[in-house]
Amino acid sequence: MVNQSYENILTRCEGRVGLVQINRPQARNALNTPTMIEIVAALQLFDADEGIGCLVLTGDERAFAAGADIKQMANASVVEMLNAPFLDYWDRLQSLRKPLIAAVSGWCLGGGCELAMACDMIIASESAKFGQPEITIGVIPGAGGTQRLTLAVGKAVAMEMVLNNRHLSAEEALRYGLVNRVVPVESVLDEAMRLAAEIAARPPVAVQLAKEAINRAFEMPLSEGLLAERRSFAMLFATQDQKEGMAAFIEKRPPVWQGC
Ligand code: CAA
Repeated sequence: MVNQSYENILTRCEGRVGLVQINRPQARNALNTPTMIEIVAALQLFDADEGIGCLVLTGDERAFAAGADIKQMANASVVEMLNAPFLDYWDRLQSLRKPLIAAVSGWCLGGGCELAMACDMIIASESAKFGQPEITIGVIPGAGGTQRLTLAVGKAVAMEMVLNNRHLSAEEALRYGLVNRVVPVESVLDEAMRLAAEIAARPPVAVQLAKEAINRAFEMPLSEGLLAERRSFAMLFATQDQKEGMAAFIEKRPPVWQGC
């Protein structure tokens, strides 16, 4: 599917994978309101499409995204920033049911880093540079940077990045657990699409519940998270795919998933 009606993104499907590419190269993919509206709308459309099993979000070689659009925000008042739904668009990624993988090359800064961290996994190219430079323009991260970054890399590194604009190379990001793997620039999108295609070929109800259960680890005390996990595990015994998966194992054959 190619949708010509977007101005700031490109979209397409490859098999059961839906791809959204941020397309404001002249602004290093800076995220203004129209771009965030389109990103969220396209991801939500893919999420609702039963033919799609996994989503990929990417930028271009120079930038995944260089942050929220500074030119859009520069003259805003406190009331405008508090009332504007702009920063809510990052949170909307949280309600996606299907896994979302970020493929990151080049600059991944500020709101761009926050967008990548709102995804479920990050595949980085060797050129990826992660940072929260908001302190250099007189503010702090506003779309999850102080929270998701700290959960991902720990307090010490997060403090340095947010308070003193320390950038992480792709290799450092891998070492600190921010990204899943680092690959050459030319293969970053292929690698993300390959991983997405593999996940999209797995039993979809189990994939959805697995993603939900892992994300609960960030929201709930351990006892509540374990209880929710146990219930989701039990619930999967109501699916055809559980019967098929276990029968296929016992019969020593590959499973054929029904998606129900
Ligand atoms: N907002 C608006 N425009 C941006 C932008 C941003 N975040 N980042 C880059 N651009 C624009 C530049 O203004 C420039 O436009 P013009 O050609 O019209 O001058 C164009 O993109 C190219 O930028 P550069 O010439 O600076 O490109 P470069 O390759 O030399 O540098 C860069 C790239 C290091 C990413 C640099 O552009 C930069 O530092 N950008 C700002 C990064 C930043 O501070 N991000 C945080 C934003 S605030 C935020 O995100 C808040 C939040 O938590 C939600």
